[in-house]
Amino acid sequence: MQWGDEAKGKIVDMLAQEHDYIVRFNGGDNAGHTIRHGEKTFKLHLVPSGVFYPEKTKVIANGVVVNPKTLLKELQEIEAAGYSMKNLAVSESAHLIMPWHIVLDGIEERSGGIGTTKKGIGPAYSDKAARVTAVRTADLLLDEKELRAKIERIGEVKNLIIGALGGERLDVAKIADETVAAAKAIRPYITDTRFLLNGALAKGKKVLLEGAQGGLLDVDHGTYPYVTSSNMTAGGACTGTGIPPSAINKVVGVAKAYTTRVGAGPFPTELTDALGEKIRQKGGEFGTTTGRPRRCGWLDLVVVRYSAMLNGTNELALIKLDVLDGMEELKVCVAYEAGNGKRTTDFPADINALAKMKPVYKAFRGWPVFDWKKAKAKKDLPKELQEYLSFVEKELKIPIRYVSYGPAREETIIVR
Ligand code: IMP
Repeated sequence: MQWGDEAKGKIVDMLAQEHDYIVRFNGGDNAGHTIRHGEKTFKLHLVPSGVFYPEKTKVIANGVVVNPKTLLKELQEIEAAGYSMKNLAVSESAHLIMPWHIVLDGIEERSGGIGTTKKGIGPAYSDKAARVTAVRTADLLLDEKELRAKIERIGEVKNLIIGALGGERLDVAKIADETVAAAKAIRPYITDTRFLLNGALAKGKKVLLEGAQGGLLDVDHGTYPYVTSSNMTAGGACTGTGIPPSAINKVVGVAKAYTTRVGAGPFPTELTDALGEKIRQKGGEFGTTTGRPRRCGWLDLVVVRYSAMLNGTNELALIKLDVLDGMEELKVCVAYEAGNGKRTTDFPADINALAKMKPVYKAFRGWPVFDWKKAKAKKDLPKELQEYLSFVEKELKIPIRYVSYGPAREETIIVR
């Protein structure tokens, strides 16, 4: 519902219990899911968050960009921890992140970038749109000679570009060798996931579609150009999987009880003071993928309301409420005020307009530190916190169903 890092992994892991298929539909290894499963904590980037359910089918759908090295590394790590990855399906039409994408991401970032994760995401999606220089998972099914020839042809084109931009030429023959080796390892998982998923739906199976990043990082609807290169909003789940819009019957939005963002771009409720630092430390707000400190600020309901509109959100999971425990006062942004003093509750499409917006806050008396573990329902929560939750629901006109106060699955209260 915000700029990513809402700790969706935990909610997906929880919801995965009730589903048969768990599907990633956008982004690549720019994402970072920290999942606590039993005693172990996993930091995953590419595979769906439902990987810890061996019996369920995990799908990397066509909208994802796949770095083969990351995929193989994560498969190894998960299998080494004792979880079978037998039931993984990788779409035939997903695009691959190649070494030149990573190099070009770095070069573009050097010349006035947007603070990407430097995982090659933008260049890989650019090649998807460009077509002739793209490599897809389907190419991994080619015979070795054809695959090698394709990699060498594209690699030479990319080396010309990299050279012209002052970068170091890549060893294309080595990349071809690596891709051939990766193809052998990944091939068993590659399948037509559009038919797999629609077939599952036809049989009445339950499918969970897991978005990566956040609504405000959506390439069409986010704070462009400070966005990622894919469509993570609910519509993107359709193009990213081949599941039709009419098959989607529930949208769960995950929002943090405050706001964070990594990378550059306007952020109206940002706290650049000691309080922002306190939230960062207490909330452990450092990137899973890059380790960068996340920028922190108050909950911005203009942002969440906008995200809810784009996604058609039916219910909310509000996360990391414990980070706000014991605060004397807390604030929630309910509207923006433009330079001319005019108020709006609409999120502006243009970041120059957004940069001029001043948040209009509603202040709340904070709730005391209390023992979350003893709270099993909304009525067990401090009354200030209950009021806070009711206010958020009323402002958004969306029920809050889950309240989360820690990384473990058990640290969740189903309040509705
Ligand atoms: P890219 O996706 O690496 O191209 O980065 C573009 C922007 O999206 C940067 O501001 C990144 O910090 C941000 N971004 C990408 N993935 C994530 C994520 O999973 N969580 C939060 N921010 C992300």
